[in-house]
Amino acid sequence: MKAQELFQVYKNYIMPTYTKVPLIFVKGKGSKLWDIHNKVYLDFFCGWGVGNLGHCHPKVMQAVRDQISKLIFIPNNFHHLPQAKLAKEIVNCSYPAKVFFCNSGAEAIEAAIKFSRKFGQGRYEIITFENSFHGRTLGALAATGQKKYQIGFEPLPEGFKNVKFNDLGEVKRAITDKTVAIMLELIQGEGGINVANKDFVLELRKLCDERDLLLIIDEVQTGIGRTGKTFCYQHYGITPDIMTLAKALGGGLPIGVMVVKKEIADLLGPGMHASTFGGGPVICKAALAVLKAIRKEKLISNTQKMGEYLFLKLNVLKEKYGIIKEIRGLGLMAGVELGVEGKAIVEKCIEKRLLINCTHDKVLRLMPALNTTKKEIDKAVGILDSVLRDI
Ligand SMILES: Cc1ncc(COP(=O)(O)O)c(C=O)c1O
Repeated sequence: MKAQELFQVYKNYIMPTYTKVPLIFVKGKGSKLWDIHNKVYLDFFCGWGVGNLGHCHPKVMQAVRDQISKLIFIPNNFHHLPQAKLAKEIVNCSYPAKVFFCNSGAEAIEAAIKFSRKFGQGRYEIITFENSFHGRTLGALAATGQKKYQIGFEPLPEGFKNVKFNDLGEVKRAITDKTVAIMLELIQGEGGINVANKDFVLELRKLCDERDLLLIIDEVQTGIGRTGKTFCYQHYGITPDIMTLAKALGGGLPIGVMVVKKEIADLLGPGMHASTFGGGPVICKAALAVLKAIRKEKLISNTQKMGEYLFLKLNVLKEKYGIIKEIRGLGLMAGVELGVEGKAIVEKCIEKRLLINCTHDKVLRLMPALNTTKKEIDKAVGILDSVLRDI
């Protein structure tokens, strides 16, 4: 199928729910992507944070191949080894907990909402934050603190209160006798790479303990090494009651996980929640390979080092171009806030074969693979530099 024909098929047969770049990719390896014309692109966005290991990591491919040749699916009323191993591995690298497996970030959030309601025994309100993003299903959408995603889909499920990020006073004022949980991303990804203050998060933890509220940390985008720790909460010296995971954990395959602290995890008993495909053998094997590669290839330490280097280089750009207002983020999750809309800059970067993204209209988002190198960072920042120079 030729490119124009393929675009036409998309137009005719696929619902237009995404703003699409007219590129067709056929192959990926590490931080590189090849398009249909054999042009090579440097991927510094990694599909909203899915590709922490880059494209087609050999260990993930091997794990998937091995498992597919033995057993692809087994329903959740039976047991299988990959699921048991993955659950244990996730708990070993987080906190004493039990997990629930599903297939996406939004599903993990929905599970956290249901869990909270069960925990609350009549208390059901969840406090979330302005500019947060928790997914597109109705519960996750109601939790999301951005009106633009909600318009046209009302009425949304009730029970969500949206307050200013990093503002403890607002959180305290929002608590009622119906409040059951506080849910946040420690770095708001879709909201413009806004980093939670450490004091704020410590106070939230204290508040949750005092008022018997659950602290739900959404690590769908920040998890699996992205910020220079396995999970972003580990920068803050707190432990969540519930953590949600997805994206990078599957190495490119769909997964979602709700991680609930052990003391309360058995509250959801048989029949109360379920997912047909959640935690299947193939995805669990892939996720195990992801976690193993992160450990074996010392990608957490590489993220810290390369993150420092990336931020250093971005700050040089900030000195050079008044259009850059602020550089924010942690590890290899970087936001470059501009004084203008970022769409044209992203397009120019793509023309020069660098894939980045713009979030919240004015924030360029760079999230390279955790195994990226100084050479790749130099190349990416060099392209961004040349685009900014021409603007
Ligand atoms: C922080 C956060 N939570 C939840 C989601 C929803 O994840 P999914 O698209 O897998 O449903 C996203 C997706 O971007 C996210 O960034």
